[in-house]
Amino acid sequence: MVLLDIHQLCVRLVTRAGMVEANSNINLHIRQDERVGLIGETGCGKSILGHALVGLLPENAVATGKIIYNGRNLLTQPEAVLQKIRGRDIAMIFQDPRSSLNPVLTVYQQLMEIYRYRLSVPRKQIRAKTVRLLEQVGIDAQRMDDYPHQFSGGMLQRVMIAMAIAFQPPVLVADEITKGLDRPVKWKIVDLIREVTADSSMLLITHDLTVARALCDRIAVMYAGEIVEINRTESLFNTPAHPYTRGLISALPASGLHPIAGQAPGLTGLPHGCRFHPRCAVRERICSRRHPQLRPLGNDHYLRCS
Ligand SMILES: Nc1ncnc2c1ncn2[C@@H]1O[C@H](COP(=O)(O)OP(=O)(O)O)[C@@H](O)[C@H]1O
Ligand SMILES: [Mg+2]
Repeated sequence: MVLLDIHQLCVRLVTRAGMVEANSNINLHIRQDERVGLIGETGCGKSILGHALVGLLPENAVATGKIIYNGRNLLTQPEAVLQKIRGRDIAMIFQDPRSSLNPVLTVYQQLMEIYRYRLSVPRKQIRAKTVRLLEQVGIDAQRMDDYPHQFSGGMLQRVMIAMAIAFQPPVLVADEITKGLDRPVKWKIVDLIREVTADSSMLLITHDLTVARALCDRIAVMYAGEIVEINRTESLFNTPAHPYTRGLISALPASGLHPIAGQAPGLTGLPHGCRFHPRCAVRERICSRRHPQLRPLGNDHYLRCS
């Protein structure tokens, strides 16, 4: 069953340089109990897509298309409705824990706010609930009266995860949750995420292909604001079809660190035709003229390539 259905989503940003499109015609669905990865180089529009799902786009953004959840298009819901959905139904773990937490409140105070004001849990039960929640994410309850700056990066990420799962949301959007973490810490966070999303759905935003591979059932590859390939995880890694997907996999240390030539285009000055063609090793004449559509190829495989 499809839980969250993104249909023809476009997010345009009003900037000094004019209007830029950070997300172009995004089509992607997330099924119940499924983890979907969203990968691609920095600046390709992953975080914008994540923010669109929780109704937290920047002020200068205009979104069109549909994000259907429970039969409703989230893009047309009033803020009051979105506030109820945010956290409770769709929760997001943001890219940078240090700037997402309030530095002057202890971890307990921040969790208490969630329980008290957003979930209306009676005061007496809050402390016990917090202890249980922290234990679930592997934080010693003795640390709950500490402030964010007293935690290491990995521990802080656990706090963020605790806050996101306090509501037991059916959908979790996790943005670069392993960024900047040492290897062993990174894999512990991966294990924790796998555990806490065992009975829910997730969109995992990451530029780390190994993390996406370890966690996700399906993966969507994004390039310059659009999705260029979607496939089941093992098929994507074993038989990548889009030249960009192949490039990303070849750039992994395990495949010999062969970087993709050239640079991703900025959102202003996108090339004509296929957005990837200037960097593509197998481009043909048509590629600079025609902008390919994302085509379904069966078995959950979608490809945008002529
Ligand atoms: N508030 C904003 N105003 C203008 N441009 C923005 C804003 N937020 C993001 N962008 C631009 O949108 C593009 C996509 O950003 P983002 O979604 O953060 O990329 P990613 O998460 O893939 O690194 C980038 O070019 C970025 O500079
Ligand atoms: Mg980002």
